[in-house]
Amino acid sequence: MALQRIDACRFASSSVDDTIAFGELVASLVEDGDVLVLTGGLGVGKTQFTKGLARGLGDERPVTSPTFSLMAVHDGGRIPLFHFDLYRLEHAYELEDTGIYDVLGYEGVCVLEWGEQFQDELTDAHLSITLTRDPDDADRRTIALEAFGARADALAVGIDAAVGRISGAEGMG
Ligand SMILES: Nc1ncnc2c1ncn2[C@@H]1O[C@H](COP(=O)(O)OP(=O)(O)OP(=O)(O)O)[C@@H](O)[C@H]1O
Ligand SMILES: [Mg+2]
Repeated sequence: MALQRIDACRFASSSVDDTIAFGELVASLVEDGDVLVLTGGLGVGKTQFTKGLARGLGDERPVTSPTFSLMAVHDGGRIPLFHFDLYRLEHAYELEDTGIYDVLGYEGVCVLEWGEQFQDELTDAHLSITLTRDPDDADRRTIALEAFGARADALAVGIDAAVGRISGAEGMG
């Protein structure tokens, strides 16, 4: 089953492939300077989403969690993708060493796994993407968008419309 629109800015993924397809859809709408903060627990699908994003931008190289490097660059697509995984970062002052301040909000699309813990040190303007497990089905996730700033708002509206078109939902919310 394909990705479904539940209501405004809330979608249901019924498989890892749906989450990857969602990443590909988002890839068609992102612009230089966009910041996506991925939220949700361990193993919820943040890296799988990022895999779809890279693929949708046109970079076919593998995406894995940049656990030890903290940042991975995928620059073989339409715009660069900077993939951060801040799970192992303990202190905000360590952010400097990741290179995040060189690109965040300026260049390419930045994706942050476990970025919400450093929200105060990072940019205000971002699109938050929260993945939530379904207690009754190991393969299902709810994906919810929350926009901070005018650009993120526009991006959320665009994503919502695009998911609406593919899921065939008719004005449910
Ligand atoms: N609907 C779904 N969407 C995404 N992943 C799913 C889904 N259903 C099952 N999965 C599985 O959940 C796992 C998600 O792993 P992934 O590495 O993307 O999580 P993560 O959120 O990046 O975790 P971490 O916090 O450890 O980085 C994969 O094994 C994937 O196959
Ligand atoms: Mg991950």
